[in-house]
Amino acid sequence: MGLDRDDAWAALRAEQSAADVGDADLAPADPEAYTGKRPIPKPEPVEAHGPARIIAMANQKGGVGKTTTTINLGAALAEYGRKVLLVDFDPQGALSVGFGVNPHNLDLTIYNLLMQKDVDVTEAMIKTNVDGLHVLPANIDLSAAEIQLVTEVAREMTLKRVLHPVMKDYDYVLIDCQPSLGLLTVNALTAAHGVMVPLECEFFSLRGVALLLDTIDKVRERLNFDLELEGILATMYDSRTTHSRQVLQRVVEAFGDRVYQTVITRTVRFPETTVAGEPITTWAPASSGARAYRQLAREVIAATNAR
Ligand SMILES: Nc1ncnc2c1ncn2[C@@H]1O[C@H](COP(=O)(O)OP(=O)(O)O)[C@@H](O)[C@H]1O
Ligand SMILES: [Mg+2]
Repeated sequence: MGLDRDDAWAALRAEQSAADVGDADLAPADPEAYTGKRPIPKPEPVEAHGPARIIAMANQKGGVGKTTTTINLGAALAEYGRKVLLVDFDPQGALSVGFGVNPHNLDLTIYNLLMQKDVDVTEAMIKTNVDGLHVLPANIDLSAAEIQLVTEVAREMTLKRVLHPVMKDYDYVLIDCQPSLGLLTVNALTAAHGVMVPLECEFFSLRGVALLLDTIDKVRERLNFDLELEGILATMYDSRTTHSRQVLQRVVEAFGDRVYQTVITRTVRFPETTVAGEPITTWAPASSGARAYRQLAREVIAATNAR
């Protein structure tokens, strides 16, 4: 195993030094050269809302853009007039922090909704700076749910039960999963209609994806027969490196048109938005990051409409 890794890194270094001496024409920098140019219709306004399509953002690897995508795809969908609920389903509470919420100061979080049947889902909800975009926050309490749920009846169905009463009010519910394939993530996959997998354009990004797809298959066979692979989102793309382009090419080879045409470029604007406590679509509305998430929102809406 160790040897494999060393070999891989040696290959990667060789490839990068080749890139440094200028083999820019090896592959075009435009990510659409890989993902294809498919027309994406502009979303029609909606008059009535719901029932919601629930999308779980999952990848057991941390730092691949799950939380960033939940926040900014959610904000972009809301810009298109959709009503959107974001569920922070990671005890780290990064999604909540992304909206300027201090998770330690919360009285009610998703944890209370999972564990106490007498708490109404709207009681825990927080409004954001974006119209039509609401958040169910989380904090470290949620880590206890993973253990406490084990002894519950229908433990995998708990989040589905929590979300059921508000399905009619929203067009999209996006669940920001924690980086693991444990019971919380299985709850998210059981509640979801589709699962979106953010994959960073890095050498080992495909590692572990087989295990994730396997988990999705198991949930589909046993708990949620209609669960779909919503799509694969390439993130952290750096067009200047041959490496990034090669990873993207491999991802497209592996997943074909299940890879979104939208590719999220690596930019410091995203870490900056965490400090700002708002989505990139409102913090830097004209930035390429904001435009990319708007395009992703159009792809998601088009796919929903085609179903
Ligand atoms: N496209 C991007 N370019 C640069 N940094 C990014 C990008 N997307 C996310 N980040 C940053 O990378 C870190 C991990 O992203 P995050 O969305 O929290 O991943 P995950 O939820 O999968 O752990 C965060 O600091 C975030 O601000
Ligand atoms: Mg996260």
